[in-house]
Amino acid sequence: MLSKIQEINNSLQECVKHIKNVNDVEEFRLKFLVKKGLIQQLFDELKDVPKEQKPLLGKDLNILRKNAESIYEELKEKFSAKTSTVKIDVTLSGRRQQCGSLHPVKQIQDEMISIFRSMGFEIAEGPQIEDEFHNFDALNFQPDHPARDMQDTFFIKSDNIEFEKNTNKLVLRTHTSPVQIRLMHAQKPPIRSIMPGRVYRNEAISARSLAEFHQIEGLHIDKNVSFAELKATMMTFARKMYGKDSKFRFRPSFFPFTEPSAEMDISCFLCKGNGCRICKGSGWLEIVGCGMVHPNVLKAGNIDSEVYSGYAFGFGIERVALLRTGINDIRYFYENDIRILQQF
Ligand code: DAH
Repeated sequence: MLSKIQEINNSLQECVKHIKNVNDVEEFRLKFLVKKGLIQQLFDELKDVPKEQKPLLGKDLNILRKNAESIYEELKEKFSAKTSTVKIDVTLSGRRQQCGSLHPVKQIQDEMISIFRSMGFEIAEGPQIEDEFHNFDALNFQPDHPARDMQDTFFIKSDNIEFEKNTNKLVLRTHTSPVQIRLMHAQKPPIRSIMPGRVYRNEAISARSLAEFHQIEGLHIDKNVSFAELKATMMTFARKMYGKDSKFRFRPSFFPFTEPSAEMDISCFLCKGNGCRICKGSGWLEIVGCGMVHPNVLKAGNIDSEVYSGYAFGFGIERVALLRTGINDIRYFYENDIRILQQF
């Protein structure tokens, strides 16, 4: 028995010399320390040795087992530390941090604002809840103008009877043009401002229109302001926004608050002017309405139309953004689909 203990002790020392990795450590454990291992076998044999030898041999066996256990613990520590560094695969590509960005419509709005600032326009804002006077009357809309109709305008209801009797009803503004009137009341000419903001219309939602969208209004009033200046301002904007070679055209139009009135179209981004679904086959997309401020509007703004003249314009920001981004359906801007938004 004693010689067997000695043998196992020797083989233990020999074994340790050849250990190179965790697998070898595990083999060491299986050989010496498990229930069917060499050391336990000796413990099992202990019952057959003469009684008087048992205490001494038992003591030696215990020392052997303790020794094997502590060697095993040391080996485990040593080699598992090494394998844990091996577990980091340095060739794997890293996980990218998700990074947010400004919404494409906001980006285009900022760009439009900076283009107009470079042309000397200031920034003004007005309320989204307007009254009929600013939204319609002061802008020379006749009382029976179809735009006032319930189908186009969101009127604000109230339980207050006095409020309901009020002929100057509250509406969600249908355009940013009422800010023109507020500006004329607040400021003497010369006026040269743009007015960005959100507008609301009771419209069917489609690839081209939304019930809630954004506009940028512009107003310049001074002595001797001409239509040529308006045209030059619109052309400068188009070239800065869409590039020097961008194609655009002016068309005569009608708005109650301007006379004469025009609209500017940009060559369709999708079909390059050949005609498609987005431009309804015309090859052009309208981005701005404009014109010379109507004398009635100057009058409503307490400005003498004999002394002053001016031009105004109103852009649909989403329209401008469609043309710049190449997105072919305005609804994509507001579906919050990260796969679309993160492209910009
Ligand atoms: N308010 C018009 C609209 O919402 C846009 C517009 C057209 C604004 C002509 C103007 C303008 O200032 O002169 O359709």
